[in-house]
Amino acid sequence: MPRFKTILVTGGAGYIGSHCVVDLLNAGHDVIAIDNFANAVCDEEGSPALKRAQQITGKKIVFYEADLLNKPQINDIFDKHPIDCVIHFAALKAVGESMQQPLLYYQNNLLGMLNLLEIMRNHECYQMVFSSSCTVYGEPEYLPITETHPTGSITNVYGRTKYFIEEMLKDLSAADEKWNIISLRYFNPVGAHPSGLIGEDPTKEFTNLMPFMAQVALGKKPVLTVFGNDYNTPDGTGIRDYIHVMDLASGHVAALNYLGSNQVGLKVYNLGTGRGVSVKELVEVFERVTETKIPLKYVDRRLGDITAMWADATLAREELGWSTKLTIEEMCTDFWRWQTMNPDGYPKKSKKTSVIVNGNS
Ligand code: NAD
Ligand code: UD1
Repeated sequence: MPRFKTILVTGGAGYIGSHCVVDLLNAGHDVIAIDNFANAVCDEEGSPALKRAQQITGKKIVFYEADLLNKPQINDIFDKHPIDCVIHFAALKAVGESMQQPLLYYQNNLLGMLNLLEIMRNHECYQMVFSSSCTVYGEPEYLPITETHPTGSITNVYGRTKYFIEEMLKDLSAADEKWNIISLRYFNPVGAHPSGLIGEDPTKEFTNLMPFMAQVALGKKPVLTVFGNDYNTPDGTGIRDYIHVMDLASGHVAALNYLGSNQVGLKVYNLGTGRGVSVKELVEVFERVTETKIPLKYVDRRLGDITAMWADATLAREELGWSTKLTIEEMCTDFWRWQTMNPDGYPKKSKKTSVIVNGNS
């Protein structure tokens, strides 16, 4: 039996959360998931993504439609369930939107986290895994990036919310040694569960490369706009460390296991493959494994984009015993399976405004 039995997953109906829930259930944890559907599809019964996660695992999830900004709602959930550890995915994450609506992002991401930490402390739950991002590093001073690379010189509001939260967690763990927190800095999550049943289906407009490319392959968008082919990289296009979402999910189970047997205060780990892939390379692999053709249009660089970023993931391998297993081919194949099996994403039913699915699984 895992050391932490009951895990609260915030943002559980979202892209990474729903995939992580599958791994948590498979590892024998009980999952309480919450989401306010700010960026996840809902239907009359709750979250179709989580319903399918139950279908994949044959196990039950307790789900609450709840908002981290609503303290009494979250407090009730902690009163009702003996939560051992929290995995905190819930956040707004659209870079462009964060620049236009900074207050919305600071309120949702920072206040949501503050509320959660206070309620956790009041219930003597001090164990947390936090979703951070490689965006906290800003423009890299060296590659591959280690966890000791300076953070904070970030050019967008979304990234700053992740940085501020990490700083807050430093202060918190320094002030009270009971806290036991792992912050995971994700590189570029892509792909989907190999069943094709769950995947990425945001309600907000997306701008990331893989979902956009898949829309072009499906014929829903005419062309993939490549932002810059004059970077100082071998083929001139930007380089990133793409990581399969199921590898990312297993990184959370590894982090939980580590927290279960170590008092770390606050520790930070990169979750990436350690390999950089250019836009052109990714397009080529995608075309090959999906047998599609992606028309490209080269345009100017996107404002705020960095040239190249990939992880040094040695620390996670050595301390968490975690490393990635899935290839770029598998990332593309699995994403494509999800897209072709669900060209319009999850079935969307009209949402009844009064529906609260407290405790329903
Ligand atoms: P996502 O938008 O699919 O999932 C986040 C979920 O949180 C959504 O379902 C949303 O409805 C929910 N949510 C937002 N605010 C909430 C609130 N106040 N109360 C309750 N629920 C709320 O995003 P994702 O890609 O699954 O990302 C999960 C986490 O990982 C986020 O914190 C994100 O910043 C971080 N991250 C994501 C990426 C990426 O590329 N996907 C990269 C690095 C870090
Ligand atoms: C973006 C976010 C970053 C976030 C990360 C993971 C920005 C500026 N940054 O990073 O904060 O942590 O997602 O969610 O949005 N590209 C194209 N054409 C496209 C889309 C992307 O050429 O239509 C290129 C980009 O220039 C980049 C690469 O593809 O070189 C990956 O882009 P994307 O998927 O948006 O991720 P990031 O830019 O790394």
